[in-house]
Amino acid sequence: MSELAILGGPKTRTEPYPQWPVWDQRDIDVVTEVIKSGRWGGYPYPGPRTAELAKKFAELQGGGYAVPMANGTVTMEVALRAAGIGWGDEVIVPAYTFQATASAPMAAGAIPVIVDIDPNNYCLDPQAAEKAITEKTRAIIPVHLGSNMADMDAIMELAEKYNLIVIEDCAHAHGAKWSGRGAGTLGHFGSFSLQSSKTLTTGEGGILLCRTPELAAKAASIIDCGRPHALGGGAEDATMDYQVGGNFRLSEIAAALALVGIERFPSQAKEREAMAAYMDEALSEIPGIRLLKRDPRHSTRSFYRYIFAINPQEFGMEHDLLVGALDAEGVECWTGYEALNNYTLFQPQKSKLAVPNAFPEYFDFKNMSLPEAGRACEHEAVWLDENIFRAGQKGVDEAVQAIKKIQRNAGELNKAAEELREKYK
Ligand SMILES: Cc1ncc(COP(=O)(O)O)c(C=O)c1O
Repeated sequence: MSELAILGGPKTRTEPYPQWPVWDQRDIDVVTEVIKSGRWGGYPYPGPRTAELAKKFAELQGGGYAVPMANGTVTMEVALRAAGIGWGDEVIVPAYTFQATASAPMAAGAIPVIVDIDPNNYCLDPQAAEKAITEKTRAIIPVHLGSNMADMDAIMELAEKYNLIVIEDCAHAHGAKWSGRGAGTLGHFGSFSLQSSKTLTTGEGGILLCRTPELAAKAASIIDCGRPHALGGGAEDATMDYQVGGNFRLSEIAAALALVGIERFPSQAKEREAMAAYMDEALSEIPGIRLLKRDPRHSTRSFYRYIFAINPQEFGMEHDLLVGALDAEGVECWTGYEALNNYTLFQPQKSKLAVPNAFPEYFDFKNMSLPEAGRACEHEAVWLDENIFRAGQKGVDEAVQAIKKIQRNAGELNKAAEELREKYK
């Protein structure tokens, strides 16, 4: 019998890794309380729990004016709109990210300009970003991807030099710090998702951290159907300006869950960070595995997914084969996002989206050169789920044992994959 679970052998990890999201009686109690209070929704904005969440979240990240809202996509659209960025403006985004980082600028009428990543950390390459700056560039959206942070010093230097707005996409970076400063407080805005897979979750939700009270007031207004809001994003204030807005408010039920999540967050993040350091050590001994480089300025690593790279030749197989086999061993993982230039629906000939159709020259994906993102997405990247890092040393040990077992049996696995490919050709 094969040693590999994917070929019928025994699984390395036989018990499931811990469930996410974590919940207990407190979550049930706070939701029950909100239900009984009758104040379920987000109107009038902000509700008491939403206001408390704004305060607590800004404390957690160590700064900014927090405006809770519906999700971590609309946060970026709202940030751009609050900064006065819209139709035909260029916004630089990294090629390796979730599609929201590019669809949010389009929702605001702006053009996402896709640039390559730094292979050391898989985040936006500041040099590539600088080369892409034109007279129309108004903003950069660096993404703190998986378990790393983009080089915020270099990005803020660019912002200063070219007068650009920086929106940090922190969907993966709750609690992370750069030179002791919280992710999302370094740029003009920090965009956070509270969607159910994220390390702070309400099921669906988002928070926009704004650098100034004026920006927060505009953001609060945009998400509350344009009603004027006080400086800092507080209650309605008739003396302030109206904006064009929609309803992207966070519900009080969601805010209540996030408040319990915030209480749990520090100890969960600490545990993940310690186990990630343990994982770094174990993986660094395996030939063909390359750890992503953690910048020394990335002072607190708080992560969503632990990402490492393989060298397929040296490791013995492509990343999709490793990920399929690892999953079968009971270790949850995936190969990560596709590069943005592979997204079919961003292509003008394939959708009726206004921005790609008005500016097709920016969406000539076939002729874009994004070699580093291409290598990560197609050959190298392995994303390990966060729950592996909440299962003690045994959890990490078993994931590492599974990786070693798969590598040991690379010949057999490649042969089986080849046979399957032949069969379904
Ligand atoms: C990098 C990144 N940006 C933005 C988002 C969007 O967040 P949401 O799903 O809350 O809209 C996500 C969510 O998966 C993400 O991973």
